[in-house]
Amino acid sequence: MATKKFLVDIHTHVYLPRYASLLRSRSSVPKIISLNNQERLVILPNESTAGRPVGPQYWDRDEKLKFMDRHGIDVSIVSTANPWLDFLTPTEAQKIALELNDDLEQYCSTSPVITGPENSKALKRMYGFGLLPLVPEITTRSLLDAVKQISESPHLKGLIMGTRGLGKGLDDEALDPVWDAIEAAELVVFLHPHYGVDSSAWGERDNGHVLPLALGFPFETTTVATRLILSGVFDRFPRLRLLLAHSGGALPQLSSRLASCIDHDPVVASRLKHDARFYLGKLFLDAVAYGSEELGFVSDVLARARHYEKGARYGSSTTPRSAGSDRMLFGTDHPFFPPLNSTEKWRSVVENLEAIDKVQGWSSVDKDAVRGGNALSLFNLDMKQ
Ligand code: URA
Ligand code: ZN
Repeated sequence: MATKKFLVDIHTHVYLPRYASLLRSRSSVPKIISLNNQERLVILPNESTAGRPVGPQYWDRDEKLKFMDRHGIDVSIVSTANPWLDFLTPTEAQKIALELNDDLEQYCSTSPVITGPENSKALKRMYGFGLLPLVPEITTRSLLDAVKQISESPHLKGLIMGTRGLGKGLDDEALDPVWDAIEAAELVVFLHPHYGVDSSAWGERDNGHVLPLALGFPFETTTVATRLILSGVFDRFPRLRLLLAHSGGALPQLSSRLASCIDHDPVVASRLKHDARFYLGKLFLDAVAYGSEELGFVSDVLARARHYEKGARYGSSTTPRSAGSDRMLFGTDHPFFPPLNSTEKWRSVVENLEAIDKVQGWSSVDKDAVRGGNALSLFNLDMKQ
């Protein structure tokens, strides 16, 4: 009889009650408003004042557990959703980061226990990504204090980060002490978009949230990851573990073009130790792409990067796509993308599971790893707890 493997959701969000209260107290974006007895979340730049409906699935842990049970998800690595603390003053951000990290540790540590064949030790159903008070003019000390707090919280396995950094983006050298501390603490950084790209590209027609979410979010992630590569962060911090949302956006598709542009650019050509494609082999990508062909393609690009990482020359790679799947991890983006009409299972989840199941060239072992095994090893859940 085949043994059941864990299904682990590494891309799943919460607005902790303390954060939801903060959003309710605000009159400018980001905020939670009440409209005709329905709470609505207004967070995106240039979003219409109506925002989106929001309810207990965004903050109530029992709702998250019900969602997990309904979809067969054993373990979730939960992160605060966007826009994190970006809109706060340094004093506010520092205080609430520490409070929210404690709240999330409590949320996870008091979650139910699960045992499974892959792990002789019991796991919790929930682990978390903490937050740093990443806002302009925050002191390095405050950032390092938050890294230390997260690393000392047994159920927090990493931290979620937007793309703004201290106001100048993540390629800002002022962040080097933070990367250094994160690398030393072996925390995983989950890079997640919020701002999209210049909305003037979206035209005047009302297309709901489709353009900012389908294109703006992944382009933002593509830009931030490319800027990090160009800044040499991975040469300075080679053990840094970055997990990119939405399968890395367009970066896998553009990585050879990026490598060529670097090679032909007198400003950058000699800056990096390696070809740009080498650095993709250092990344972890979620498998939130909704299609098996996309997952297969992304794993091909990662497989090539891993091949180069082992010292091969750039050119043709015969590395099988399954060699890239060990850097890809199942996610749902819950509680976003709920079905428009009530259904037992959410289409957004079913599609991502079916996509993993149908990738040509991934063995059943590779698929199990993407569904859960890769997460257990990335977050050290196969060893600790
Ligand atoms: N919409 C958001 O605002 N955030 C997500 O993570 C997904 C959809
Ligand atoms: Zn998300």
